[in-house]
Amino acid sequence: MATVGPIPNVEAHGAKIPLVGLGTWELRGRACARIVEQALRLGYRHVDTAEMYDNEREVGEGVHASGVKRADIFVTTKIWPSHFAPRALERAARDCLVRLRLSEVDLLLLHWPNPQIPLAETLGALCKVKRDGLARHIGVSNFTVALLEEALPIASEPLVCDQIECHPFLDQSKVIAACRDRGMAVVAYSPIARGNARNDKVLARIGAAHKKTAAQVCLRYLVQQGIVVIPRTSKLDRLSENAAIFDFVLNDNEMAEIAALAQRGGRIVDWAYSGTMDWD
Ligand SMILES: NC(=O)c1ccc[n+]([C@@H]2O[C@H](COP(=O)([O-])OP(=O)(O)OC[C@H]3O[C@@H](n4cnc5c(N)ncnc54)[C@H](OP(=O)(O)O)[C@@H]3O)[C@@H](O)[C@H]2O)c1
Repeated sequence: MATVGPIPNVEAHGAKIPLVGLGTWELRGRACARIVEQALRLGYRHVDTAEMYDNEREVGEGVHASGVKRADIFVTTKIWPSHFAPRALERAARDCLVRLRLSEVDLLLLHWPNPQIPLAETLGALCKVKRDGLARHIGVSNFTVALLEEALPIASEPLVCDQIECHPFLDQSKVIAACRDRGMAVVAYSPIARGNARNDKVLARIGAAHKKTAAQVCLRYLVQQGIVVIPRTSKLDRLSENAAIFDFVLNDNEMAEIAALAQRGGRIVDWAYSGTMDWD
């Protein structure tokens, strides 16, 4: 299996986030630990998990088994909204670290907004967790432009990213612009649209011209805009495929053609709170 060349970082409020990370939702048990270990051995330096994925122990196992220096790995985890009351958040963050067997994570995110608990209280606790040394950086996930506008003035520590669903079949230009204006990174989840990119004719045609797969074109389209991608795979050979996206460039016409794939209803992840959110 080919090793992965150096993966560039994006910088946001002092955080250096590798542009490609390994997504781990639905990866469980030995298979999860093994794919994390392999990804790191191949050259990945960024792993994304969450308390909700029920795999932090295995992600930690993979990190420790990889032999890669801890300081060289960017580990993200996320706090589930039922733990957003201040004391629960602090306890949840400590529990994440115990499961991961780490003294701190690189990035700790609020997984989804929780309208039941005042945002100021949750952000206060998140900032405290950072100041107490449990997380090097903090951020949010699934925050709309309106929620970012509410959060940023009340956060006493920088929010370095918004992790959002982002792929060519969904227009996220407004939230991307809002993040850019505020110096925040955008981290794209479901960046290959849960594998659907593989079947897209436009991506496949553009890929053929560059000797790349449709999935690689899809990921390249995002990283070429400075967007971090965290594709998940359970297959060892796809680890190298998904990271081999820094040796070609999409031209302006190709970028525009891919941007035109966005459609209404292109959202894949639709969770309880999201139905009540005004994404634009
Ligand atoms: N913050 C949030 O609310 C949130 C929500 C969703 C996801 N996430 C994070 O984002 C990560 C990625 O998103 P995701 O897991 O929803 O979807 P994704 O990464 O877009 O797609 C994963 C699917 O694509 C397939 N795949 C991977 N590489 C491929 C390739 N080169 N060619 C064809 N198919 C390929 C995988 O199958 P194989 O295993 O067979 O390769 C898997 O079924 C998650 O794992 C999680 O870490 C965060």
